[in-house]
Amino acid sequence: MTPAKHDPSPADWWREAVVYQIYPRSFADGNGDGIGDLAGITGRVGYLADLGVDAVWLSPFYPSALADGGYDVDDYRDVDPRLGTLADIDALIAALHGAGIKVIVDIVPNHTSDRHAWFREALATGRGSDARGRYHFREGRGDDGASPPNGWTSIFGGPAWTRVVEPDGTPGQWYFHYFAAEQPDLNWDRRDVRDDFLRTIRFWADRGVDGFRIDVAFMLTKDLDPAHDALPDVHGTEQMFPEGHHPLFDRDDVQDVYAEWRRVFDDYDPPRTAVAEAWVPAHRRVRYASPASLGQAFNFDLLEAGFDAVAFREIIERNVADATASGTSSTWVFSNHDVVRHATRYGLPGPAGDDGGDWLRSGGDPAAVDAARGLRRARAATLLMLALPGSAYLYQGEELGLQEVGSIPAAERQDPVFFRSRGADVGRDGCRVPLPWTSTGPSFGFGAGGAHLPQPSWFARYAVDVEEADPDSTLWFYRNALRARREITGVFAWEDGSPGVLRFSRGDEWRIVANFGEAPVALPQGEVVMTSAPLDAGRLAGEATVWVRR
Ligand code: NOJ
Ligand code: CA
Repeated sequence: MTPAKHDPSPADWWREAVVYQIYPRSFADGNGDGIGDLAGITGRVGYLADLGVDAVWLSPFYPSALADGGYDVDDYRDVDPRLGTLADIDALIAALHGAGIKVIVDIVPNHTSDRHAWFREALATGRGSDARGRYHFREGRGDDGASPPNGWTSIFGGPAWTRVVEPDGTPGQWYFHYFAAEQPDLNWDRRDVRDDFLRTIRFWADRGVDGFRIDVAFMLTKDLDPAHDALPDVHGTEQMFPEGHHPLFDRDDVQDVYAEWRRVFDDYDPPRTAVAEAWVPAHRRVRYASPASLGQAFNFDLLEAGFDAVAFREIIERNVADATASGTSSTWVFSNHDVVRHATRYGLPGPAGDDGGDWLRSGGDPAAVDAARGLRRARAATLLMLALPGSAYLYQGEELGLQEVGSIPAAERQDPVFFRSRGADVGRDGCRVPLPWTSTGPSFGFGAGGAHLPQPSWFARYAVDVEEADPDSTLWFYRNALRARREITGVFAWEDGSPGVLRFSRGDEWRIVANFGEAPVALPQGEVVMTSAPLDAGRLAGEATVWVRR
């Protein structure tokens, strides 16, 4: 008999886990100051347990000026006082573990914040100091060094170099930052940088954290040799360098870092796990996901695809094969804190695969989105995903079918993308709006006070209390699906489909049909365990998925 899927060896818990991403500042506010906090999350552990997730991934909760939503970390081994204390994180970890839920924390190794002790030291000690060597400082060009070392731009817009004022008050060197100016990139050639992150990993592992999500895992090591300065810019120059040798991205030598981390992960019992955020081509993803490296990597392919059967089939096939070949399991994800929510993306009028950027730029009018269709497709895609082998990443609020908040007044925006692009890109605040827990009350039950990003009135419709009372709600759909998923086990195999319809089996028992088209299709024989939409005269409705058990 095949062992039950959710009785894996303790070391393998992650292989098929459902991981729920919490963006702490926007989940639940325990003290009513408008900012979500650790006590707020601890108060909702029952909700997470009822939802049926296996693990929680906490986006950064470390001290931060929030220049980039907490991905600008002042101190990797502490808690932002606005979110709580180390005692509060211990209490949260204990509460989650008590509910049988694992804990994953975010590690942000590519850059510190500009308030980190190392960066302050680098500024204070001046040119040529040992402390400057932990970052990438260079002289500017021109007689007075007033031009940046090269013309590269930040991914958030604007130059990738910022000039500092030297301790004597004169304009001085420039430092490199791929993201915001408040996020100086670290120099991973330095042994003390490497050692400090090993210490951080042990710090959290010793506190009981089960795994790590590694921010921009494909960058860390760099070759900022002035010989590359002639590049017009760094974006889209991958093909100009031999694979693994680009000055910034996906260098082969970043794996030396992870080989060291792996030794630390494996010092623990069960070994700590990690998942790489690596925006690299699929054939390079396996390097990060290999058991000798981080062990798993995000696979953003479905997130980037439209609601399209051909694209889904090709992506699933390749990722299942790659993951199996490299001794890991795939990850699947549709939404996170960096992208337009999938219930909205799938309701946009444009061609399949639209990331919502144009809609946001044009004002993000909710009336321009077919929210009902977006949600219908999102539920179909999610039910398909939850039947795949591998781990599924959910983003807070998707279990409510929450739509993206497209129109946030400029004065209330927080994302550096908005500021650095001078509003050309409105950024990612629309998926970071605090969750609605109740249909009435201040901040829809997010807390006793306000909400740090404005919640639209239509949030009431998606509130947890409303959905809890409705057996047909998206919340109950997720709860039921996560419960039923625990039974799904066995080898994945395609079955004959038809245009616009994907059919596959898991073992002998389970048949999954995902209908991307609009016309109803026949159901397989057996018991209908889950559908993403009501049946249509005994058939699987259009834009819907079904799980059938023989
Ligand atoms: C990826 C994170 O998901 C994103 O939110 C952040 O802005 C960048 N990394 C920089 O840390
Ligand atoms: Ca708070």
